Amino acid sequence: MTVVTVVLGTQNPDKLKELQSLLKGTSIQVLSLKDFPGAPEVEETGKTFEANARKKARAYSRHTGCLTLADDSGLMVAILNDKPGVYSARFAGPGCSYADNNAKLLRLLKNTSEAKRKAKFVSVVAIYSAGRFVGVVKGECHGKIAHESRGKNGFGYDPVFIPKGFKKTFAELPRGVKNKISHRGKALRAAKMKVLQALL
Ligand code: IMP
Repeated sequence: MTVVTVVLGTQNPDKLKELQSLLKGTSIQVLSLKDFPGAPEVEETGKTFEANARKKARAYSRHTGCLTLADDSGLMVAILNDKPGVYSARFAGPGCSYADNNAKLLRLLKNTSEAKRKAKFVSVVAIYSAGRFVGVVKGECHGKIAHESRGKNGFGYDPVFIPKGFKKTFAELPRGVKNKISHRGKALRAAKMKVLQALL
C-alpha cells in the first residue's frame, strides 16, 4: 500500500492527535511542522478565520512541498458582536493566558441573562498543495457562555463554553465527546473528504 503524507500546519500536539485519529485506518500518514524544521513564521493578521487559515496553509505547503492543512479557530459571542473572533487568543491583551481571557469574558457578561449568552466556536481548515489552493472547509459548534469557569479538560475557552444540548462545559466533558461535536472535529472530518478526493 502506498503511503501518502499530509502535513498539519501546527505546533499544537492536540490538533495533531485529532487529525491522526480521524485518518487512522487510511493510507495517509499525518506529519506536523515539527517534521519540517525551518517553517516560516506566519502572522495571523487576517480579518477572518478563512484568511488566516489560507495564509498559513499556503506558506506552510510551499515549505513542506506536501499536501498541507492549516486551521484557524475562535469563539464568537453574539451579544459582543461576535467578538473575540479572530482575536480569541489575545482577547485580554498581548501575552495573556487562557484564564485571563475567560475572566475578561465572564466579566463582560456579568449581568447578561441566560437567553443572551449565545456563542459559537468556529474552525476553518484550508488545504494547499505546494502553494496551490485545494480547498477550504468550516465547522461550527453552537452553545452558550457559562456563568463561571468549570472543568479541567481541553484548553482555551473550554471551561466557559456549554455546547447546545449539554449542561456541562467543554472542559467537563470527555475529549471524545468534544471531538464528536466540536467545530474542529466537524471541520477536520470535512477536510478528510477533501484530502481523500485530492489524492484520488
Ligand atoms: P488558534 O486557532 O490555535 O489560533 O486558536 C485561537 C484561539 O481560539 C485559542 O487560543 C483559544 O483561545 C480559542 N479556541 C479555538 N478552539 C478552541 C477550542 O476548541 N476550545 C477552546 N478554545 C478554543
